[in-house]
Amino acid sequence: MAKPASNLSRQLESVGNWVDRRLPVSDFWKAHISEYYAPKNFNIMYFFGSLALLTLVNQIVTGIFLTMQYKPSAAEAFASVEYIMRDVEWGWLIRYMHSTGASFFFIVVYLHMFRGLMYGSYKKPRELVWILGVFIYLVLMAEAFMGYVLPWGQMSYWGAQVIISLFGAIPYIGDALVEWIRGDFFVSDATLNRFFALHVIALPLALLLLVVLHLAALHEVGSNNPDGIDIKKNKDEQGRPLDGIPFHPYYTVKDIFGVGVFLTLFAFMIFYAPTGGGLMLEKDNFIPADPLVTPEHIVPVWYFTPYYAILQAVPDKLLGVLLMGAAIAVLFLLPWLDRSKVRSIRYKGLASKILLVVFAIAFFRLGMLGLGTGTAAEVFEARIWTFVYFAFFGLMPFITKYEKTRPVPERVTK
Ligand code: HEM
Repeated sequence: MAKPASNLSRQLESVGNWVDRRLPVSDFWKAHISEYYAPKNFNIMYFFGSLALLTLVNQIVTGIFLTMQYKPSAAEAFASVEYIMRDVEWGWLIRYMHSTGASFFFIVVYLHMFRGLMYGSYKKPRELVWILGVFIYLVLMAEAFMGYVLPWGQMSYWGAQVIISLFGAIPYIGDALVEWIRGDFFVSDATLNRFFALHVIALPLALLLLVVLHLAALHEVGSNNPDGIDIKKNKDEQGRPLDGIPFHPYYTVKDIFGVGVFLTLFAFMIFYAPTGGGLMLEKDNFIPADPLVTPEHIVPVWYFTPYYAILQAVPDKLLGVLLMGAAIAVLFLLPWLDRSKVRSIRYKGLASKILLVVFAIAFFRLGMLGLGTGTAAEVFEARIWTFVYFAFFGLMPFITKYEKTRPVPERVTK
């Protein structure tokens, strides 16, 4: 026999009903969580969407606390960060959760994107999910770049100098554009102020909006899966996909496991190697910005270095900038470059498999080369990998159209 509801639970229920009649909270919960049917064969590559959400929330929450003590002026910024690290209670933890968090955000997003490449999640009908993802990636890069300028260390200053001056390569308007971005004739207090405004409010708002659209677009068409098959084709009498399970509780529980593993690794980095040996916070950034002393090697943080290597591989500045832009812009075209009948790499031919592995190696190698000092040998190797990077996209339409694919099963496998 069911236990009679307690007074408290009846009161809570009536408050819930009151809200529901005015705001459809439970309809939303049902549509997007408890009755959102996700394919039952998600594997660990499907952890990274929810982890991207977690890292986003981590950046926002720790960012709010940092902003309470940080001073966005050229005269005080560096000292205010030192103050956070030394004098503010738990300030060091908040700062490292934010700075190491930025690197973890990119690790998660790169793996999330790679999952999309593996299983053809960008293909019809998820083109818009992918395109919104690429916009997120662009905004995320701008957000990270501006954040790195804020501590006003040597790398903040000179990194900003190098990256902003890239816009100077644009014919006719280049110089004026650079001055407009900096808000001054050199990287200065005005630059720091506007980067602060963009970093703490404008770009996070854009990111949040894009993430909402990203998920709304995904839920409209439904999730892909490692087999790349459409689970909506096989439904039971109630119209529920036979190969689907409700997101809650099944994937909420599964995702909690992913969160546990992630937090363990994240905590390990924060406590034992918060600067990632100079990869996540460069050594030069512990020296206050000095417009009169250029650091020996100006190198961006690791998540930008694949593109930096492409830039360095081209002798002409304008061409380099264009190629670097093209390396990101080409991602938008992916849904139309892949002409395969199948989505998942599992059922594509050997050529596609090789292409994907070689692409991943090229991206990784470019990332390593971009961290180097730009020797002739490094530049030479970067040219080869730049060629391979673009060959992935250039060859894709032909390989995916003509290669022999394996038959795709009717129902999900495992
Ligand atoms: C702030 C960054 C991002 C967040 C919070 C985010 C969040 C999510 C979440 C929660 C999902 C559903 C769960 C999953 O499939 O793993 C998802 C799916 C997806 N995301 Fe993202 N995402 C982000 C960035 C990106 C980027 C940069 C791309 C690609 C350029 C991308 C492409 C996709 C695709 C294609 C799917 C559908 C995957 C499938 O159904 O197989 N996302 N995203």
